[in-house]
Amino acid sequence: MTLSAPAIRARKRRNGRAPIVMVTAYDEPGARYVDAAGVDIILVGDSLANVVLGHEDTLHVTVEQMCHHVRAVSAARPSAHIVADMPWLSYHVDHADSVRNAGELIRAGAHSVKLEGGHVRRDVVRALLDAEIPVMGHLGLTPQSVLAFGGFRVQAKTRQAAEWLIKDATVLQDEGVYAVVIEGVPSVVGTRVTEALEIPTIGIGAGPDTDGQVLVFHDLLGLTKASPAKFVRQYADLGTAITRAIAQYADDVRSGAFPSESESYANPEDLLN
Ligand code: KIV
Repeated sequence: MTLSAPAIRARKRRNGRAPIVMVTAYDEPGARYVDAAGVDIILVGDSLANVVLGHEDTLHVTVEQMCHHVRAVSAARPSAHIVADMPWLSYHVDHADSVRNAGELIRAGAHSVKLEGGHVRRDVVRALLDAEIPVMGHLGLTPQSVLAFGGFRVQAKTRQAAEWLIKDATVLQDEGVYAVVIEGVPSVVGTRVTEALEIPTIGIGAGPDTDGQVLVFHDLLGLTKASPAKFVRQYADLGTAITRAIAQYADDVRSGAFPSESESYANPEDLLN
């Protein structure tokens, strides 16, 4: 049975619940591996733009592209909850459009959607919830704000900014989001926002005290071209393993070692005379 948004909402660590494990995936094999590892939530993140499509930021993906990848992830039929990012401009202009865009992601196979921003998103969150679409929030270093922030910078570094972030998180909670991602903030901010909320926080670069953690698939597995951010723990170096394996294949083709007889179809008698 798929983990539901209400079941995730109940996963507060201070109530004795295990930390939430969330990882991104963008295609069927990725989702299959991630689900087999027993994660709670698969995020079809708009980090798709960076780690799969080669863009510098997340501003370049569309609802159509997100749906394409949500469909692929959903084809793995994971037990994990699938949350899909609403891409930039898909929820900023008009609430009716926002609901239609979120509906496209749900029809592609997502169980909920995630969007970035605090009190300014109050009305759109309400519109989505009115349409029965569960919503996850995202605060702190919100990548869709890269131009407004002037780069990817740690957020909430002053007392006032930290208070604003906690207020924003409370607004999202009061509107009815079931969980909120907290990204790129000092760990004490991760701790305080987690203490302030009844809903779970899921941290990425927000310290050890949030109710869960999320990492990007390609960061965790060593598949990125840039060196990973400070908050990433790389659990494997698949990039090196992939290059090594393909180089071995190239050598074998060039030397004639591949394919061998056992890798070729047997020749029928009829064809040999
Ligand atoms: O798109 C993404 O991968 C995300 C995570 C960084 C939380 O939003």
